[in-house]
Amino acid sequence: MKPLIAPSLLSADFGHLEKDVQMLNHSQADWIHLDIMDGVFVPNISFGMPVIKAVRQLSEKPLDTHLMIVQPERYIHTFKELGCDLLTVHWEACTHLHRTITQIKEEDMLAGVALNPHTPISGLEDIINEVNLVLIMSVNPGFGGQKFIERSLHRISELREMIERNKSEALIEVDGGVNQDNIAAIVKAGADAVVAGNAVFKSDDPELTIQNLKKLS
Ligand code: DX5
Ligand code: ZN
Repeated sequence: MKPLIAPSLLSADFGHLEKDVQMLNHSQADWIHLDIMDGVFVPNISFGMPVIKAVRQLSEKPLDTHLMIVQPERYIHTFKELGCDLLTVHWEACTHLHRTITQIKEEDMLAGVALNPHTPISGLEDIINEVNLVLIMSVNPGFGGQKFIERSLHRISELREMIERNKSEALIEVDGGVNQDNIAAIVKAGADAVVAGNAVFKSDDPELTIQNLKKLS
């Protein structure tokens, strides 16, 4: 199966954001991945509401929004109003994860949960039938351009097995260090979707790279 490709705008050229979003509109990208960082949950600050609003006006693709923020429940309605289609919160940032996932779905968005590289997959067992997507972090969140953590392949397989055992319809998305050399192994392990930041935007021909990422898997 060909994976869904979600280029991460974090690696785009923010001086020419319109050009990069138009490129994604013309490309085979399935979603646009938006990395929202608050400088508390992760040691970096990215971009916020005005940028999402501008991207929404330009983008013809669904917005796959990855919240690396504490207490994400405070902003669920705001992200809906901004036009996000898929909202992913971190397992480690939610005291009442079930409630937060329910609130995202009540706002008519797809609900995702993200796991840091050290967080046990088994912690998802009681939520796997409620979520639309699980985002497996294959780097420590906070920065683009990091190296893929090999151990993530086992984690993807373990999650695939849990999804099948529970007859869950959750998609598996993998985020961090994905490139043309490792995408085949990631998809083989069980991923449905991959995020790619540097691999796309630092390449000579981003549109062709997106096409190749789909083809290679
Ligand atoms: C990291 C972000 C990723 C990042 C991916 O915290 O969640 O989405 O932008 O970038 P690459 O593909 O360069 O690792
Ligand atoms: Zn991300």
